[in-house]
Amino acid sequence: MAANIAVIGTGYVGLTTGACLAHLGHDVVCADIDSQKIDRLNAGEIPILEDGLEDLVREGVQGGRLHFVLGAANSVTDREFVFLCVPTPQGEDGSADLSYIEGAARQISSSLISEAIVINKSTVPVGSTRVVEQALERPDVSVVSNPEFLREGSAVHDFLHPDRVVIGSDDQAAAIRVASIYLGLAAPLMVTDPASAETIKYASNAFLATKISYVNAIAAVCEAVGADVNDVVLGMGYDKRIGQEFLRPGPGWGGSCFPKDSHALVRIAEDAGYDFGLLKGVIEVNEQQFERVVQKVAASIDGSVDGKKIAAWGLTFKSRTDDIRDSPAIEIIHRLQAQGAVVTAYDPAIGADIKGITVCTDPYAACEAAEALVVLTEWDEFKWLDLDKVASAMVSPQVIDARNLLDRNRLRQHGFRYEGIGRS
Ligand code: UDX
Repeated sequence: MAANIAVIGTGYVGLTTGACLAHLGHDVVCADIDSQKIDRLNAGEIPILEDGLEDLVREGVQGGRLHFVLGAANSVTDREFVFLCVPTPQGEDGSADLSYIEGAARQISSSLISEAIVINKSTVPVGSTRVVEQALERPDVSVVSNPEFLREGSAVHDFLHPDRVVIGSDDQAAAIRVASIYLGLAAPLMVTDPASAETIKYASNAFLATKISYVNAIAAVCEAVGADVNDVVLGMGYDKRIGQEFLRPGPGWGGSCFPKDSHALVRIAEDAGYDFGLLKGVIEVNEQQFERVVQKVAASIDGSVDGKKIAAWGLTFKSRTDDIRDSPAIEIIHRLQAQGAVVTAYDPAIGADIKGITVCTDPYAACEAAEALVVLTEWDEFKWLDLDKVASAMVSPQVIDARNLLDRNRLRQHGFRYEGIGRS
């Protein structure tokens, strides 16, 4: 049955949620505080690179099931369900900053219809369902936790084909009403208390970060003992208890979620009296991984990058997104620059200089007169470039492949020195 839904916040979670809910047949109003963004969205233009999202937004707008309005209060007046999809940035002390959530709750409070359900999709510390209830001051309105598990770059696919839908509520009737929104999806649905739902989100992200730090640490061991991490991971992954997913070694994990959520979980545990040493170690291994890539680049050019020209392919935190928030690529480039390197970068999703980094419009130009090339994001197109053209642009053809992306045999045939992560 089609529901009347409001979505507060049109970031990648809110916009994906709104567009996908409209695609499922619901009537959706999305609200944001940025008037230009609202005008563009109503015209079917989307501000982020997200596979399939533009088509869904256009479909929803043209079908009259998806609307964009300015201001949270305006969006909720006749809505049965209100999704909060506002940011929860990392505060100074590592904990999540709830001011946007509380602000949104206060803004909509007096406009909500009786028996509306406010659904929190933002990633919030355990106990935040209560914080929203307190900010709303509306005992007639239920607040339900419904965490998102969307990966940037495949957010639409993840929304429409979820591994699970988690609903956290002490109010069974409200939980059932929220579950009805998702009836069009074939996914296990789990109803639990709000604290457990909130913890599922943090525990999942921190576990995935743990897998990656583990494999990056194993990569260091592989280098030390002369093993090949790609084969090691493949061999591990055939064990069904381990699986092949999320075991790709790389320059370290980043993005808008893992760093923020892993720090927040350390803090949540600490506040509750548990010292989460394991997760602190996971974060520490990630910091070391950035430095290990920097050292690999330095080692490839006589131990110092000072005054040396370095080419970098990749700036986004992963491929298929234009998001550079907490990107390991940017972190590594900044560390190289801090040691005196002159870096020129190329990324298919980034068209202009950013964060003090010179960005070229083609990958060969970035390699001009470079002494080393470091591959930092796993864009497919890097695999198919003309290696002779790359080699002739560089002073010395050598690649530090922090994503184990390129074909090392092919590179060596073209005269490159190659170094990957956890394999030589
Ligand atoms: C993540 C979660 O996957 C998603 O469920 C949650 O809702 C939001 O946070 P996202 O931030 O889009 O999604 O990125 P993800 O694809 O999970 O990658 C996170 C980081 O880990 C990236 O820097 C990526 O390059 C890195 N990564 C991922 C690896 O280094 N190796 C891997 O095997 C997988």
